[in-house]
Amino acid sequence: ATLADCGLELSPGQTAELLHSEVPLPEPFKVPLPIPPVKKPVRTEADGDYYRVVQKRASLEILPGLRTEVLGYDGLFPGPTFDVRSGRTTVIEQVNQLDVPTVVHLHGGHTPAASDGWPLDLLLPNGGHHEHMDHMDTGGGDQKTGSRTYTYPNTQRAAALWYHDHRMDYTAPQVYRGLVGLHLIRDDEEDALPLPRGDREIPLVIADRAFAADGSFRYPAAKNGPGVESAYMEGVIGDVVLVNGAPWPVLEVAAAKYRFRILNASNARRYELALDPGQPLIQIGSDGGLLGAPVEHDSLVVAPAERFDVVVDFSKYQPGTEVTLLNKLSKDRTGQVMRFRVTAKAADDTSIPSKLSSYAAVPEPAGVVRRKWAFRRGDAGGHTGWTINGKAFDPEVMQAEVKLDQYEIWSFVTDVHHPVHVHLAPFQVLRRGGKKPGPYDAGWKDTVDIRPAEVVEVLVRFTAHKGKYLIHCHNLEHEDMAMMAAFRTS
Ligand code: C2O
Ligand code: CU
Repeated sequence: ATLADCGLELSPGQTAELLHSEVPLPEPFKVPLPIPPVKKPVRTEADGDYYRVVQKRASLEILPGLRTEVLGYDGLFPGPTFDVRSGRTTVIEQVNQLDVPTVVHLHGGHTPAASDGWPLDLLLPNGGHHEHMDHMDTGGGDQKTGSRTYTYPNTQRAAALWYHDHRMDYTAPQVYRGLVGLHLIRDDEEDALPLPRGDREIPLVIADRAFAADGSFRYPAAKNGPGVESAYMEGVIGDVVLVNGAPWPVLEVAAAKYRFRILNASNARRYELALDPGQPLIQIGSDGGLLGAPVEHDSLVVAPAERFDVVVDFSKYQPGTEVTLLNKLSKDRTGQVMRFRVTAKAADDTSIPSKLSSYAAVPEPAGVVRRKWAFRRGDAGGHTGWTINGKAFDPEVMQAEVKLDQYEIWSFVTDVHHPVHVHLAPFQVLRRGGKKPGPYDAGWKDTVDIRPAEVVEVLVRFTAHKGKYLIHCHNLEHEDMAMMAAFRTS
């Protein structure tokens, strides 16, 4: 069936269905931008910093005057931000006080397989009967009950990573209900730069949602089994844009440079970000950390799971100016994201160096292993949904055996838009559509937006960790509808 046959409503740049809120939408630019708190360790040892996070339900005021129940890390949405040092181990005890199994994945992490959040390595809640547990596929996973410890060596350069739920078949609804947070890694190379910092370095976790009449997140209820009803296999997009968990918020800024750590944490929505009144967004980093040199964008297309590290110079505006962050892919209310209110002139000794880091593109090696990954709509073995290389996700099937420490060239081929994500190692985009990489492809990436009928080739090399890892579409409904494949490193 074509999209039209399924009666799906498509908006430009989206391959998803818009869910409308059943409550009046709030007036934009009234709620101050919240900043997720930085998580403090419970103890610090020679071998690392130890943290404890409690996954629990909480009732939050997201829309003014309404309560929304979230599934939150520490009951927050987004969860607390981890702010850690490169090379220093982070050990996180996750406690599940929800009534659903969870799995935590550190997206962008160079993580040993045992802590990577294999979708069947469930953290079960303590006691009682649990929602959906009857049809849970438990095959082969390493399950824990009550709490589970994840160890992240952070053996990688400074970058904005994020953590989120990764439970098999239920990632989309569980992330939608709140299980996301940032994990920022810092290093000396980044610290040495004269970039904006402190309260002029601001995370922007952008996620769209729809709200039901009772204030809860509106999400299509699962029928039996899979977390996503198949009518929503295109992906779920909402009519409210949240930034750091607040609808169309406003941030007061001095007339100075600010650094924004942008994450698109939406299930399926892309944004094309631009400022109004206009000035370029200066990109200094991507998923895998700082670029070699800054890249200017009049607008910035951000697919689900991508991160962009961006500097905006508000000294180019007169104090009193209201600057709106637009989403040029939408014509409705979601065409706006948030607003900045420029308050006053301020001292600013920051700058954007023309050389940001030692990042360099790796010369394309000859004679390396090449693999093709085809992301397509498909029917496979009684499964209707999405496939990779003609297969629905099967945790028993390794679609590739990959040798550590060797470059490989992977080609991603698709029918419709898919943000493709690879676990364990970042990659560099070599070619898009047979030509040079696109404007948003610079630097080390772990998620790349593949446009319809456009082959993207990337250079990747896995190191250090042996085990089972994943490649999947980060449209979370596509992922839950089986657009995921396992590979093994050795
Ligand atoms: Cu952000 Cu496998 O996921
Ligand atoms: Cu997809």
